[in-house]
Amino acid sequence: MAAEEVFDLKGKVALITGGYRGIGEVFARTLAKTGVNVAIAARNRSGCVQLADELESSYGIKAIGEAVDVVKKKSVKELMSKVADEFNHIDILVNSAGVSGVQKPTVELEEDELDYVFSVDFKGTLFCSQEAAKLMMKQNGGKIINVASIAGKLAIPYMTGYCVSKASVIQLTRVMALELSRYNIQVNALCPGYFLSDMNKEFFESKKGKQYINERIPLKRLGDLKELESTVIYLASAPAYLTGTEIVIDGAQSII
Ligand SMILES: NC(=O)c1ccc[n+]([C@@H]2O[C@H](COP(=O)([O-])OP(=O)(O)OC[C@H]3O[C@@H](n4cnc5c(N)ncnc54)[C@H](OP(=O)(O)O)[C@@H]3O)[C@@H](O)[C@H]2O)c1
Repeated sequence: MAAEEVFDLKGKVALITGGYRGIGEVFARTLAKTGVNVAIAARNRSGCVQLADELESSYGIKAIGEAVDVVKKKSVKELMSKVADEFNHIDILVNSAGVSGVQKPTVELEEDELDYVFSVDFKGTLFCSQEAAKLMMKQNGGKIINVASIAGKLAIPYMTGYCVSKASVIQLTRVMALELSRYNIQVNALCPGYFLSDMNKEFFESKKGKQYINERIPLKRLGDLKELESTVIYLASAPAYLTGTEIVIDGAQSII
C-alpha cells in the first residue's frame, strides 16, 4: 500500500487541546496540513482562533478555535458540544494541554502546588477523554492520543508533581484502552523527551540547561519540534491493533 493510503487522514476531525503553541501547535499544524479538520482549544481563545484561521486559509480545511479550561468539567463539556455541533463527530482527540508544575524538594511540596499540576495534567486529560469517548462510543470508533512525558517513566528529583501526573496519564491510557476497545476506540500515549517550548525555555537557555543536555541526553541535543510531525500522523492513523501503549521519542534519554 502507498504511504498516502496507509496514513490517509483527509477529512477526519481532530480536537487538539493546548493546540495553539508549543508541542500542541505542531500537532495542529501537522494534522491540518494532512487534510484533517481541526478544533484547537486552550484557555487563550484568541491564540486558538488565530491559528485556526491561518490553518483554514492555508490548507483548505475547516478549523475552529475555542476556549477551554481542562480542569473544569463544565468547560470541557461545553467545548465538546461545540465540536459536535460544528463537525458532527470527532475522530481524534490529542490531549496536549499540560503544565510542568513547581520544581522543589518533595518534602516541601504544598497541597495547592500538587493540585495545580495534577488537575491540569491528569484530570484535564481524563475529562477531555471522557467527553470525547462518549461521542466516539456513539460513532463506534476514534483515537485518543495522550501527551504524557518521559517524566511519567523516569524519577526526576524535585519534579514529583509532574512525574506523578504524567505517570497517571500513562496509566489512564492503559485503563481506558481496555475499557474502550469494544467500541473500536484506541487510546495511546506519546512520551516526549525534551523539546524547546514555553514550558522549559528558560531552563534550557541557561548554562545549567545546556549542561543538562550535554550530560543527560545521549543525542546531546533537544528534540526538534519537526521530529514530532510523523509521530502524530502515525498515532492519528494508527492500525487498530495499536492501543494501550506509549511511544517514546526522547533521543534515548530514558534508556540510560
Ligand atoms: N516541551 C517538552 O519538552 C515536553 C516534554 C514532554 C511532554 N510535554 C508535554 O507536552 C504538552 C505540551 O507542552 P508544551 O511543551 O507545548 O508546553 P506549552 O508551550 O507551555 O503549552 C502548554 C499548552 O497547554 C495549555 N494549557 C495549560 N493549562 C491549561 C488549562 N488549564 N486548560 C487548557 N489548556 C491549558 C496552554 O494554553 P493556555 O495557557 O492558553 O491555556 C498551552 O497551549 C504538555 O502536556 C507537556 O507536559 C512537553
